[in-house]
Amino acid sequence: MTRELVTARLVLRRPKPGDVDDLHQVFSSPEAMRWWSTTPHETMEKTAEWLDGMIAADPELSDDFVIEAQGRVIGKAGFWRLPEIGYILHPDYWGQGLATEALTAVIDHILATRTVERVTADVDPDNAASIRLLRRLGFEQTGAASRTWRVGGVWMDSLYFGLDRDRWKSLKTP
Ligand SMILES: CC(C)(COP(=O)(O)OP(=O)(O)OC[C@H]1O[C@@H](n2cnc3c(N)ncnc32)[C@H](O)[C@@H]1OP(=O)(O)O)[C@@H](O)C(=O)NCCC(=O)NCCS
Repeated sequence: MTRELVTARLVLRRPKPGDVDDLHQVFSSPEAMRWWSTTPHETMEKTAEWLDGMIAADPELSDDFVIEAQGRVIGKAGFWRLPEIGYILHPDYWGQGLATEALTAVIDHILATRTVERVTADVDPDNAASIRLLRRLGFEQTGAASRTWRVGGVWMDSLYFGLDRDRWKSLKTP
């Protein structure tokens, strides 16, 4: 199994228990968690539990990475459940093209190592940054649904996006 993906500014690698402090900085941030499927983690134990799940995930079903920049874990990108992509970065690192860089690497990786024909995404209609990121990478909207996630007692909606293997290849070929 591929251990790490290296890009110009990032190293994407498999998670380990020592990542809990850095990841808690991400998962306790109300800003970063605004559109996530859970409320911000209130305790380090919550993040440790989440990280244990990521570490123990079945590699047949999951292919996920933590994102490291200058020796610090700043988020995660990958597939908790194939073929749906998931990603989050600490707000200090937003707006520098880092998510574009990380997602390009994990999509390349997944299409090179698995037989999946398409990568999918589930995004809140109000999550402008994430929608822009997906469109910039070539994702196209495939559907929409209301009241798909109940987070902290509030119903949230979903837009569904997909990116086909052939489309990704054609967009990457100059
Ligand atoms: C979504 C997220 C990963 C984007 O990270 P990022 O590193 O700032 O993204 P990039 O710098 O690569 O930018 C990607 C595109 O989104 C745009 N963008 C970034 N932030 C934006 C914002 N707040 N509003 C609108 N567009 C935004 C960028 O301009 C860029 O588009 P462009 O190249 O056409 O200009 C980050 O905002 C995040 O972690 N959000 C919280 C977690 C989350 O919502 N995850 C997704 C759940 S589906």
